[in-house]
Amino acid sequence: SLVTTGELLSGAAAARSAVAAFNIITLEHVEAVVAGAEVCREPVVLQVSENAVRFRHGRLLPLARAAVAAAERAAVPVALHLDHVRSDALLRQAPEAGFSSVMYDASHLPYADNLAATRAAADWAHAQGLWIEAELGQVGGKAGAPALDAHAPGARTDPAQARAFVADSGVDALAVAIGSAHAMTTRTAALDHGLLERLAVTLGVPLVLHGSSGVPDGELTAAVAGGITKINIGTALNIAMTGAIRDFLAAHPDAVDSRSYLSVGREAMARSVERLIGVLAGGRPT
Ligand code: G3H
Ligand code: ZN
Repeated sequence: SLVTTGELLSGAAAARSAVAAFNIITLEHVEAVVAGAEVCREPVVLQVSENAVRFRHGRLLPLARAAVAAAERAAVPVALHLDHVRSDALLRQAPEAGFSSVMYDASHLPYADNLAATRAAADWAHAQGLWIEAELGQVGGKAGAPALDAHAPGARTDPAQARAFVADSGVDALAVAIGSAHAMTTRTAALDHGLLERLAVTLGVPLVLHGSSGVPDGELTAAVAGGITKINIGTALNIAMTGAIRDFLAAHPDAVDSRSYLSVGREAMARSVERLIGVLAGGRPT
């Protein structure tokens, strides 16, 4: 069923568990994420990034409509989230496209500018009944962004600054920079668990981990136990899909029907979703 991100995350925060949020790019991603979550009998977030909208020739609605239809028929609760939005024009499409939440990303701006832009976005989002996430500190590895040293001063989220940012912007959740980076193809990120603990006790809102594909299983489990409530995963599904399709086409050089390899790619993504949701469940209190 289609539910709101706000209700999923407040339930997860109360249970000290986390909800997986998978980035969707194609219809196969949508089907795979819902299928994987159904096998696990766990709720899930389908998220569409501004980059994915750009890939879809700037159009949000076709993929969004597919995601809404899949969510409505799903056997588990599914929420729709618009991810890494910088464009106000895109932000404003969220409600009519069926999204209950947005991540407004002004984290590349200096603090005062990030705060001002985020507060304006939050005021608008709340007037629409949307739940809003923002980012403070910089999770590196974003497409088109300059390479970032995750250990550089100012890259990590500072707890005192984050507390003021959440209070002054009014956001419902915060993406924190604690050592992960986007688009990693190796699972080698080491998280700063001491910093996560300080952020979790200082901030009264759900914390979001971005770039989770590069985070090893044990670190993901520890992040959930340490207070992360939303785990954003994108690249892991691309690795699964592309790897499976590459292997299939190498073994079937005469294949022509796109369904032959798309079904293999979709199946590989569904298995990856299942596995990762299972890992996150391991971080819950027992
Ligand atoms: O917002 C999306 C996530 O941060 C995805 O990051 O592609 O590195 O898993 P990832
Ligand atoms: Zn992200």
